[in-house]
Amino acid sequence: MTEDKANVSQSEVAARAAELRRLLNEHSYRYFALSEPIITDGEYDALMNELKNLEAAYPELITPDSPTQRVGNDLASDLPKVRHVVPILSLGNAYSAAEVWAWRERIGRLLPDDIELDYVVEPKFDGLTVVLTYTDGVLTLGATRGNGEIGDDVTPNVRTVRTIPLRIPVNPNGPTPPHRLVVRGEVLMHKRDFERLNQQMTDEGLPAYVNARNTASGTLKQKDARITASRPLTMYAYAIAYAEGDVPDTQWERLQYLRALGFRTANDVIGHFETLEDAVSYVEAYESKRHDLPYEVDGLVIKVNDLDVAADLGVVGKDPRGAVAYKFPAEEATTRLLGVTANVGRTGVLTPGAVLEPVFVSGVTVKQASLHNYDLIAEKDIRIGDTVLVKRSGEVIPYVVGPVVAARTGDEQVVMPPPACPVCSAPVARDEDEVAYYCTNAACPERVARNIEYFVSRGAMDIDGIGERGVRLLLDKGLIHDEADLFALRAEDLLELEGFGEKKVQNLLASIETAKARPLARLIGALGIRGVGSTVAGVLAEHFTSLDDLAAASSEQLQAIEGVGPHTADTVVEWFANPRNRSVIEKFRAAGVQLAEERQAVEGASDRLAGLTFVLTGTLPNLRRDDAQALIEKHGGKVTSSVSKKTSYVVAGDEPGSKLTKAQQIGVPILDEQGLLDLAGEAQ
Ligand code: IVH
Repeated sequence: MTEDKANVSQSEVAARAAELRRLLNEHSYRYFALSEPIITDGEYDALMNELKNLEAAYPELITPDSPTQRVGNDLASDLPKVRHVVPILSLGNAYSAAEVWAWRERIGRLLPDDIELDYVVEPKFDGLTVVLTYTDGVLTLGATRGNGEIGDDVTPNVRTVRTIPLRIPVNPNGPTPPHRLVVRGEVLMHKRDFERLNQQMTDEGLPAYVNARNTASGTLKQKDARITASRPLTMYAYAIAYAEGDVPDTQWERLQYLRALGFRTANDVIGHFETLEDAVSYVEAYESKRHDLPYEVDGLVIKVNDLDVAADLGVVGKDPRGAVAYKFPAEEATTRLLGVTANVGRTGVLTPGAVLEPVFVSGVTVKQASLHNYDLIAEKDIRIGDTVLVKRSGEVIPYVVGPVVAARTGDEQVVMPPPACPVCSAPVARDEDEVAYYCTNAACPERVARNIEYFVSRGAMDIDGIGERGVRLLLDKGLIHDEADLFALRAEDLLELEGFGEKKVQNLLASIETAKARPLARLIGALGIRGVGSTVAGVLAEHFTSLDDLAAASSEQLQAIEGVGPHTADTVVEWFANPRNRSVIEKFRAAGVQLAEERQAVEGASDRLAGLTFVLTGTLPNLRRDDAQALIEKHGGKVTSSVSKKTSYVVAGDEPGSKLTKAQQIGVPILDEQGLLDLAGEAQ
């Protein structure tokens, strides 16, 4: 190290570090904001590593805008307070066209008679305001709105959000920002990311989050920025709160300006209108499309485009007069909570579900809703018999927001976690520092059924031709008792089942045969051990080359592995100690399921595309269709023939067909051959 330092001059190192920061910021912008990367993940990582190494050797080179600072550091922030340079205002609301026109009337009284206003319409994001200060282009402060005067300093957290530029302009050819620029935007979680995060939580046997907004807000206010870094937040910019220097003076131009600086703006939604009639019609037409947006909105905002006029209009309370939020009708209703069911998940976790008096919520009759977990029920004091507020957001399952306490009669009953499993009557347990209650019986019929359903699912053992119904049928007929029995299924037994024709049976058995050779990580993840989702399974498979080695590991050995906590370590040991589970493993062995990693089995095979589904269309420049398919499968991915919302990517070549159009319509990402090779880690 000392020698290295002597050989290169400090200024050369500083120049290289600056170059690396610039490159990394540019590529991360291309990747995350534009979705148009021009280098591979591997190349990106190499640049990042080079910068990390330089900074480790020369800590004085670390700058606040360095991309290395995005990955939360070890310092915990206890959320100091900051005073905003200007009040961070709120918005007035309108719930009908008439109320929007009343707003226009009110501001009209303060304006010259002959003035003609034009308007900008933007989404009203349902997220959390952030106020970002850039000093000479460098992000120096990130704060929440707080009370509008004073906010929480969340700078370390904000730095982990990839769509928040650490330095502007992101593109060196972009405009030079003023000495000080305060940008306002909304931090949120895209609906897809939220669902994925919740899937991951459930996969690991952990309770799901309630809604995207609260999760985004909780995530941004984390004291430990590493947690923020691990969750998929994004930001949309919509205003300049303060500038020391020249910035455009209309809202429309400011949005373009923010975009040119490198911020994400809601390009597909924003509109500029010469008349209020047009702006109002635009908002109204959007109502039916609100669920198609990738994020949640509770309306659209109509803003006076001329910001000098808007500023002159002043403020009422905390609401600037120059803008109004035209809110969509709330997707909420009140109804009675008739009862609470306890649903048993595959890891045994009991999830409370609300049974509701049927109620109409924005076009749909809702009879059931999620109650998330028992702690939340207690915290919100939701009782059976209560009138409760139910909310729908998007296509996600509706949930109970809370009780209407004023409507209580006194006959309501407190909800308690069941003392025994509602399916098998085994005792229910709860681990310290875990929110979930769970059924302790590994042979609980519901747990077993759910576990097998998970075992065969995509991303787990990926057995085609048998879904939830098929699994239940095989269990009912006594053809299987656990997941290992799948590998002993015989054609003659299956052919007797209703709906199982020759072809279907053949395909199913072929798929079961293929599944015997899945990588160890997939097998471990498919077992249904609480706390072991795909991430932990991958870590375990890297450390232990066989299931037997893993089974023999002690809790201490497991805890020594990075990414495995004491709790998970204990659960793993317990799982392998259970006689039922031991017998499952022996059956796997007898059936010829691969229990050890044969890393050389297929040369260059990996799990990089595990859980992803591809559709191929058109002619690729170098790969034949079956080569492309083999490549995808070699890396654990799957190829299907039709495009749906479940398709992860469409790989398009020359003369693509309608599949490409469909993908574009429903927003499935599109790759070319090179993109596929990059994703699979096979880029030349
Ligand atoms: S403008 C002077 N624009 O809504 C600037 N706010 O209900 C006043 N919000 O606290 C705010 N989307 O967090 C503005 N396109 C948008 C917005 C937006 C969401 C939030 C913002 C505000 C809240 C008021």
